Amino acid sequence: MTLAPEAVRSMFDRIAPVYDVMNRVMTVGLDRRWRRLAAESVVMPGDRVLDGACGTGDFALADRRAGASEVIGLDFSERMLARARSKAPDIEWIQGDLLALPFADGSFDAATVGFGVRNVADLDLALRELRRVLRPGGRVAILEITTPRGIVRPFFSLWFDRIVPVLGKVLPGGKAYAYLPASVKRFPGAEELASRLAEAGFGAVRFTLLGGSIVALHTGVAEVTG
Ligand SMILES: C[S@@+](CC[C@H](N)C(=O)[O-])C[C@H]1O[C@@H](n2cnc3c(N)ncnc32)[C@H](O)[C@@H]1O
Repeated sequence: MTLAPEAVRSMFDRIAPVYDVMNRVMTVGLDRRWRRLAAESVVMPGDRVLDGACGTGDFALADRRAGASEVIGLDFSERMLARARSKAPDIEWIQGDLLALPFADGSFDAATVGFGVRNVADLDLALRELRRVLRPGGRVAILEITTPRGIVRPFFSLWFDRIVPVLGKVLPGGKAYAYLPASVKRFPGAEELASRLAEAGFGAVRFTLLGGSIVALHTGVAEVTG
């Protein structure tokens, strides 16, 4: 099941009021640590940073804590952005599409995307857009749920295939959570995402598995083009 961009946008508009609470519950509070690690792996003091698919703004805030002097958060859901604005009115929050970023080439020193690339209609286009708006040598961090390996796998299946869909039935805006397992299964594994980043023009691509391998943090450096 692949949702059209408009359906994804309205789904996130609906879950905006419960999004932060659900994140904390579903990750037993680890999501904040993952964003901090991701931000610290690519943001350097004084950087101008784009947080794409910023949602309610927690990754952009982690980028700022990691030393960014300017952070721009971009998302296509106005209600997610309204939450972000209420947390940090001084950050610039822009409504826009990851697939057509409203910035000139080479505008940023670093870019982060947390749990956002899984939902885009064209992953390769999103990665190319991130590459385009980074200066050569600029760094990207992609944090995303991945299908886990080893001992965690059966527990993940139980959680994702049985418990999350039930939460989806009882929570307001819960349809988004019913959609979550399918979107994770469809998404490329960590090795493949690393190859797609390389194809999009990133060098030194690496990934680390976090949370017992349920989340992958990919980083890469924008290569000089031409
Ligand atoms: C799961 S939330 C992640 C929010 C935040 N990055 C975080 O770390 O919690 C995914 C976000 O991606 C946004 N999104 C999905 N596709 C998008 C697109 N094509 N352009 C801009 N935002 C998009 C949704 O509106 C939603 O806010």
